[in-house]
Amino acid sequence: MTQQVTWNDDLLVNVSEIDNDHRKLFDLMDGIFSSATHGAAAVNTAIGQLATYTREHFSREQASMARSSYPLLGDHTYEHEHLVFQLESLINRLMVEGPDAVDAELAQFLMSWLGDHIVAWDMKYAAYLRETGHTG
Ligand SMILES: [Fe+2]
Ligand SMILES: [Fe+2]
Repeated sequence: MTQQVTWNDDLLVNVSEIDNDHRKLFDLMDGIFSSATHGAAAVNTAIGQLATYTREHFSREQASMARSSYPLLGDHTYEHEHLVFQLESLINRLMVEGPDAVDAELAQFLMSWLGDHIVAWDMKYAAYLRETGHTG
């Protein structure tokens, strides 16, 4: 795996708790790419860390949305559940088929998995906060 996922300021939600989480998630994804050279166990450990931190992040983000009376909280929560399901499916395949079998898919998946969600969904929340003056 040679591809990398990179953070950039276009992904800022402007809630420090959420932005710090997003940076950390990008770091964890990067860790998966670098773990690939260390074999299947290292990949499994790295992706397990990503799954755990992702769940924690989604809880924190949803709590922020609840505090800010965000009207799309229900839809957003559903999207989060879908992302967790996708990641868990991939982890199951990794366990069964080994990292080589999902190598290209994993890189592509991770590139779009979180980045696309932040752009499509978390940015909507950022716009809501700007418009309403809620601080998240
Ligand atoms: Fe989100
Ligand atoms: Fe997020």
